[in-house]
Amino acid sequence: MNTASKNTRLNNWVEEMAKLFTPDSVYWCDGSQEEYDRLAEACVAAGMYERLDEKKRPNSFWVKSDPADVARVEDRTFICTRTQEEAGPTNNWRDPAEMKDVLTKLSRGSMKGRTMYVIPFSMGPIGSNIAHIGVELSDSPYVVNNMRIMTRMGSAVLDALGENGDFVPCLHTIGAPLEPGQKDAAWPCNAENKYICHFPDEKLIWSFGSGYGGNALLGKKCFALRIASWMAREDGWLAEHMLILGITPPKGEKKYIAAAFPSACGKTNLAMLIPTIPGWKVECVGDDIAWMKFGKDGRLYAINPENGFFGVAPGTSMKSNPNAMLALKANCIFTNVAKTPDRDVWWEDMTDAEPPELIDWNGNPWTAGCGRKAAHPNARFTAPASQCPVIDPAWQDPAGVPISAILFGGRRAGVTPLIHESFNWQHGVFLGSIMASEMTAAAVGTVGKLRRDPFAMLPFCGYNMGDYFAHWLAMGKKSTADKLPKIFYVNWFRKGADGKFLWPGYGENSRVLKWVVERVSDTGEAAETAIGYVPAALDFSGLSVSEAAQKELLRVDPAEWKNELPGIREHFASFGTHLPPELAEEANALEKRLG
Ligand code: GTP
Ligand code: SPV
Ligand code: MN
Repeated sequence: MNTASKNTRLNNWVEEMAKLFTPDSVYWCDGSQEEYDRLAEACVAAGMYERLDEKKRPNSFWVKSDPADVARVEDRTFICTRTQEEAGPTNNWRDPAEMKDVLTKLSRGSMKGRTMYVIPFSMGPIGSNIAHIGVELSDSPYVVNNMRIMTRMGSAVLDALGENGDFVPCLHTIGAPLEPGQKDAAWPCNAENKYICHFPDEKLIWSFGSGYGGNALLGKKCFALRIASWMAREDGWLAEHMLILGITPPKGEKKYIAAAFPSACGKTNLAMLIPTIPGWKVECVGDDIAWMKFGKDGRLYAINPENGFFGVAPGTSMKSNPNAMLALKANCIFTNVAKTPDRDVWWEDMTDAEPPELIDWNGNPWTAGCGRKAAHPNARFTAPASQCPVIDPAWQDPAGVPISAILFGGRRAGVTPLIHESFNWQHGVFLGSIMASEMTAAAVGTVGKLRRDPFAMLPFCGYNMGDYFAHWLAMGKKSTADKLPKIFYVNWFRKGADGKFLWPGYGENSRVLKWVVERVSDTGEAAETAIGYVPAALDFSGLSVSEAAQKELLRVDPAEWKNELPGIREHFASFGTHLPPELAEEANALEKRLG
């Protein structure tokens, strides 16, 4: 076999898998621009991509997926640990041998008529001791080009792997073999038979049937969160669904903050916000995933394992997130957005006025006011992180950046104030463990339904969530309170009686970050409540939020919180003996404080 690698295990595995998938050919990706361009042109010729206007959006493409393949499929995502107990009550479990049997049968011949691409990639800067290497085998050229933006991909990774280096094997097939002479679909997939499977014991990923996002770009959720969370527990670090930002006060010292919000709850927006308060600066290290390890100095250091942004398009505008818009000006892939008559992209709320005419994400003519959405709510852009105007100078630092604060947050119309701070690490872990958020379009499901999403990791934790809580508690014992990040909980989405958001959000969130920076610098004033510290005063200067709304945003209602307790206890009970006793104690302590 023609191989680009000297790694025996890799070569043997590729050969073995080619026998199973029976592609027409095997192609080793080198990660070059020439290769990217060639594959993009092939996708244009095949009718999957359309090239956007070279002047408006150079080297960028418009892609429509199959309408049955538009988001992560959590009910088709499986954790195949030896026992169901290891996967825990929040994951779909399958016996590993049985699942492999199912996948092997489905995958036999599934790449017929197609090319099998070998995609070597590094999560994190190549060669960094926090980074890890994966190799994805995929029959989708769209996946190859997205992986080139989202990870460090190609020959340099094979060089780093050498003869004996370790890698996470990632199998991906869209499950749509092509018979000779059969016309290919524009977005081939196997919508009826999706399986997104993880075998943590062997650190193997096997994804069948979907070509979209986290189902198919296996470095992201499958590796960097589900498999990495397992690795992190084994080796004493953290793999989290968190953005990382650097924030510099007018005269003060720069601090780094990591924040875990569920999918489509504001990570990309917060990661690159433009502060509305004068003199403050925010820079972006990452917008979705953080890998964090303790340094020798006892502080927690974070790297962004990714190389690009796979961001929610709808809602992104020069008003809401100018830095994202500027990052999108060239070299991007847009999936399930609308196309303008002059071959540019559009999505809901990108501009104040809707364009009169568009081609919608299904490829149908669309007119303003027709009542249909032009872009799918989970339409996404794939953009190189290096194009973000406020990318942090340290974003590729192999040592990571020191984290001073961790924010948890969700989308919640009631109960939870704009911000509160935990009393200590253990109480902070409690706050993460009881996170609740309204569901979004990022996953197939009921949008708006409130669910517990601990640490924003409900769909992404590769093992028993009760053990994950214990791991977080144990991490807090590895250092001392003065060095550990302080833990906060934010909610940009509280609504007033009129059903409208009370808080303007976006750039105005800098006012909340300001208080966080003050608190970690021991200068911020706080008032103690039953649920934690809230700001004694938040900087609302120059902001047109009524005094009543300001009060409501920070209000902690003991009666509402008492109502939360049965739900918290029920949630905790689902973990049985895997629930760390400290968290049950925290629930009791909260009840006592509520009086
Ligand atoms: P994933 O990529 O799915 O993990 O999502 P994310 O957490 O990065 O969410 P993102 O920043 O893309 O925001 C998702 C949606 O929330 C977009 O429609 C935003 O416009 C909206 N949003 C983000 N920040 C705010 C905010 O501060 N206030 C309000 N009201 N909406 C926000
Ligand atoms: C998310 O859903 O949290 C995402 C998008 O970041 S996906 O890559 O599809 O998981
Ligand atoms: Mn995400």
